[in-house]
Amino acid sequence: MRRSMIGRRTFLKVTGVAGGTAMLCPAQVLAQGLEEGDAQQPVLLLEAREVDVPLLGADEPLTPAWAYNGMVPGPEIRVKAGEMVQARLFNRLPVPTSIHWHGMRIENEMDGAAGLTQEPVGAGESFDYAFVAPDPGTYWYHAHMRSELQVARGLYGPLIVEGDDPGEMRDVTLMLDDWRLNEEGRIDEASFGSLQDAGHAGRLGNWVTVNGVSAPVFEAAPGERLRLRLISAANARIFHLALAGSDADATPVPAEVIALDGAAVEDPVPLEAPLTLAPAQRVDLMLLAPREGSVALRATDGGTEVTIASIDIVGEAVAAPAAVPLEPPVMAEPDLRSAKLVDLIMDGGAMGRMRGAKVGADVLDMRDLVEQGLVWAMNGRSDMPEEPLFEVEAGETVILNLINRTRWPHAVHLHGHHFKVLGGSDPLSEGAWRDTVLVEPERTANIVLVADKEGRWLLHCHMLEHQAAGMATWFKVG
Ligand code: C2O
Ligand code: CU
Repeated sequence: MRRSMIGRRTFLKVTGVAGGTAMLCPAQVLAQGLEEGDAQQPVLLLEAREVDVPLLGADEPLTPAWAYNGMVPGPEIRVKAGEMVQARLFNRLPVPTSIHWHGMRIENEMDGAAGLTQEPVGAGESFDYAFVAPDPGTYWYHAHMRSELQVARGLYGPLIVEGDDPGEMRDVTLMLDDWRLNEEGRIDEASFGSLQDAGHAGRLGNWVTVNGVSAPVFEAAPGERLRLRLISAANARIFHLALAGSDADATPVPAEVIALDGAAVEDPVPLEAPLTLAPAQRVDLMLLAPREGSVALRATDGGTEVTIASIDIVGEAVAAPAAVPLEPPVMAEPDLRSAKLVDLIMDGGAMGRMRGAKVGADVLDMRDLVEQGLVWAMNGRSDMPEEPLFEVEAGETVILNLINRTRWPHAVHLHGHHFKVLGGSDPLSEGAWRDTVLVEPERTANIVLVADKEGRWLLHCHMLEHQAAGMATWFKVG
């Protein structure tokens, strides 16, 4: 990570409670909520409010943030596939907000895209979300109103959907974030809205947390089977990750990629470092704990390498049972022959070739765009257009060519649908179902989806400053 006055703290370990994580067992999560109506389906209360959190470490000053239920990340929601999630967002923030259930294939009205699928939830107001969690896997929820500000302040949490028992494993959720803190260790608000950031890589931070703390330490028994659920809540940083042993050479620890963006991969892939985790993406890893020492999750960036979380090997050795493969997701098979072809051309940004773009009925030159805080365009438009990018009947197959004509990578996310990556610049994703794909500069990723959920769905770059500065559009199904 970038060297900074506080960068050294990423090396410090948080002592005490393993992981310092805000993980709750389901019973606790539900007990926090309101019991209402059907006693089988208690409502989880998610209260969005300002709170001071221990981002810097146990004995350091607290950092004012925005969070769900007073903690960053918000409570881990854990249900079984096919079960209902019922959550009441209560907005105690001074501004409107909403919650998006990232990666969940649910009804459009529950998608939480403020301004498109629901009205923003005003200060002091509440909104009830209820949906069936269709697919097992690792998901997350986050604010979806001015996300570049609200997610940066801490409004996110993990959402885990359990499938059939995948065998005995220690299940560890690792929610990564990259904060930009100022000299006082507070969230750098002065640089919110920076066009410099928006036109480049987005808001890169200087302080990495996992589950809201710096370099947490977890524990596992020798030989124990582990499932690490990596989730990135970073605004813009693309993490490059590796697992290293505690021997002098920091020998790579073998692991397998078993799921991407929630969906189990057809065949587990041996982990090859560096593993790319773009904003909003998830990667599930499976590994066997070594006999002794520890396993470090390391982030490499521009020549520096830091441990962002680690697992200490303690206690009696266990003989892990054989791994039970995860069920691949049940998705409608795309019909490539009858597919509708759609190009999505991304333009703009620093060092780009864009000369202007449409906003409403007007064609604006770069200077006028910049005045409105816009520096990117999708298919020649920098605003959220009146007309959808494409419109199809429910069940139609769409091949989307994500054409990146810029000098910057973009993490393209579709709401409400998973897509299969046909080709692109990321070999790990090829052939896999994802909901967020990284498209490298000057490259094209080809994806295919079966547009089977009716409604108005967002499609945007999940580098949140890019989204705010022109990289958002939508598509209509049904
Ligand atoms: Cu993770 Cu439009 O969102
Ligand atoms: Cu982008």
